[in-house]
Amino acid sequence: MRKEIKNMAFLPLPVLIIGTYDENNKPNAMNAAWGGIYDYNEVIVSLSRHKTTENLEKTKAFTIAFATKETEVMADYFGVVSGAKEDKIAKAGAKVSRGKHVNAPLLEDFPINLECEVVSFKDGTLIGKVVSTSVDERYLKSDGSIDVDKMQIICFDTTSNTYRILGDVVGKAFSDGFKLK
Ligand SMILES: Cc1cc2nc3c(=O)[nH]c(=O)nc-3n(C[C@H](O)[C@H](O)[C@H](O)COP(=O)(O)O)c2cc1C
Repeated sequence: MRKEIKNMAFLPLPVLIIGTYDENNKPNAMNAAWGGIYDYNEVIVSLSRHKTTENLEKTKAFTIAFATKETEVMADYFGVVSGAKEDKIAKAGAKVSRGKHVNAPLLEDFPINLECEVVSFKDGTLIGKVVSTSVDERYLKSDGSIDVDKMQIICFDTTSNTYRILGDVVGKAFSDGFKLK
């Protein structure tokens, strides 16, 4: 038997941290969970009006970082306070540096950063082209591959308004399914 529930349980959601500059190069960051991959090298995020959207409409650029267990408090802070009211970067003690390819800040506390150009922002839907991806060397294995376990990336659990760590490997993609062919 299945039981219908009132609220949609869409799991998991990513915890994306969007970095932008304002017109004076002051960095800001916000938390966005309603987002994901749109195309091979494009991302999509559903955004209401924020300091972030004001910024990216001017600079035509933003960064995306993936929140981790270590950065959870900072990530949530970026989602509960607006950069229009507080200097979130300063208050959180977040480390930023200039993007190498776009006019947006790299969020150094987060292991992965995507540098994105705004393709479009219309009716609350942001589409961005990923022009570069960089990873903190501390999270790279000796063969150059990404050490996902070490990063402890978190997801947003909408059913309990909590953050959870991305878990263990349980299978091989594009492979295990062939067992049933
Ligand atoms: C877990 C979480 C997820 C969020 N996801 C989104 C989202 O996908 N889209 C959105 O517009 N706002 C989202 N928010 C709200 C913004 O992060 C929040 O309004 C923030 O203060 C905006 O910052 P800014 O004004 O500095 O840009 C989320 C907040 C939290 C805590």
